[in-house]
Amino acid sequence: MKTAFPALILSLAGIPLLVAQSSNIVLPQDKGPNTIDVGAYPPEMQKAYKLFSAKCSKCHTIARPINTLMTRPEWERYVKRMMHKPNSGISDKQGKEIFDFLIYDQTNRKDKNPKAFFRALSDEEIQKLKTQQ
Ligand code: HEC
Repeated sequence: MKTAFPALILSLAGIPLLVAQSSNIVLPQDKGPNTIDVGAYPPEMQKAYKLFSAKCSKCHTIARPINTLMTRPEWERYVKRMMHKPNSGISDKQGKEIFDFLIYDQTNRKDKNPKAFFRALSDEEIQKLKTQQ
């Protein structure tokens, strides 16, 4: 009984569920800054930033999208990919709002200083990282 007890506590706390939902790989951009100064962004973008911060930090650090460079088609594909992951909790409408924010932020912050950010990994590179673990 002694050994079964901690496992029971963990499962009551929902921990195995959280582990199952999270992205198990660590990417370089996870270690970068985890906030954006949106003080000068238009009000609707400041609002969308809050939605983005709440929704896109569920499975990995919010630093990951904050520090990743993508083109418009790449972001479009990526937001859909994230929305379609099991239990993403992101509706179509919320996905669109977050996409608009990511494009605004890409154009007005990242594109001005691309060296400060990380390029997105290819599907092959991600697959390789996943199988290494
Ligand atoms: C349900 C879990 C989940 C949610 C919610 C989620 N992600 Fe992800 N994300 C992942 C996983 C898992 C990966 C690793 C790659 C893969 O499996 O597709 C990832 C990878 C990424 C990457 C890395 C791309 C690269 O190539 O370096 C970015 C950027 C990203 N997510 C952005 C977002 C954004 C933006 C949102 C909110 C719209 C979001 N994520 C919400 C699970 C999630």
